[in-house]
Amino acid sequence: MELERQIEEAATYIARARKLVAFSGAGVSAESGIPTFRDPGGLWDRFDPLELGGGDIFTSIFSGARVPQAAVDFVSEMVAVLERARPNPGHYALGELERMGILRTVITQNIDNLHREAGNTKVIEVHGNIFRMACMICGNRIMLEREELFAMGRELVEMLRAGNIQGIVRVASKCRCGGVCRPDVVGFGEPVQEMPRAISEAQSADVLLILGTSGMVYPAAYIPEYAKRAKARLVEINATGCYFQDLVEVGMVGKSGELLPRILERVKYLRSYSVF
Ligand code: APR
Repeated sequence: MELERQIEEAATYIARARKLVAFSGAGVSAESGIPTFRDPGGLWDRFDPLELGGGDIFTSIFSGARVPQAAVDFVSEMVAVLERARPNPGHYALGELERMGILRTVITQNIDNLHREAGNTKVIEVHGNIFRMACMICGNRIMLEREELFAMGRELVEMLRAGNIQGIVRVASKCRCGGVCRPDVVGFGEPVQEMPRAISEAQSADVLLILGTSGMVYPAAYIPEYAKRAKARLVEINATGCYFQDLVEVGMVGKSGELLPRILERVKYLRSYSVF
């Protein structure tokens, strides 16, 4: 019954929202088959974040430096899960909320492009996007199509497994300046992207949805705080607990792929029978 009440309360905030903003983490993509980082069995359970979570892993891979076996296994797993991943009902519910004119912006820590594939058009990716390449010489950005990215990814894994350094540099996408490109994603110790814009969106929201994040990584994890200080109402959905309980009005324990569609249905009902 408590969950029903929370769904109703969350739907009422969202149906009345002047500007809804969502802030998402890896949990939102868990039901798309992408492992989270800090859940039991997650990526940082099986790989060393200090060795593989930093930006220098890309520089090592694409500059011909020796790459540890763990890095080969990590890249191989990420290429495989990202290639299979498609938006789940939680992503699609957010796309629908944007089409209804309620959800204005998604601020995400995820690099998997799934919010865009589910129809959200205003997405701030503070940790970058794996489909975007950045030239390591001139900084130029190139957006790759899905097929292009995963064809390159599969070849890269083959070259890494064979220790074929020349092959790696050949496979890497090239910039018009001739420079080698690396994935435009933010590793530990690298500057995050578009944070000022993300903060501004959080500060102008009257409702913030916090979805599937442990809130362990800063500065992204400050986003809920900015919204709270600007008097927004905060609603959290997390499968294993409430990580922002001192900030939120509603803290729901459940899967975003299951709860967001149920909240969306209530929002549609409330919007069709009342004037907000
Ligand atoms: N629905 C909702 N929440 C879920 C689901 C689900 N189906 N599955 C897992 N979760 C929750 C977990 O309980 C956990 O609290 O999602 C959260 C994911 O937390 P993390 O794995 O820490 O991921 P995230 O918060 O996005 O990490 C932030 O850390 O390593 C860096 O750059 C990486 O962007 C990442 C950042």
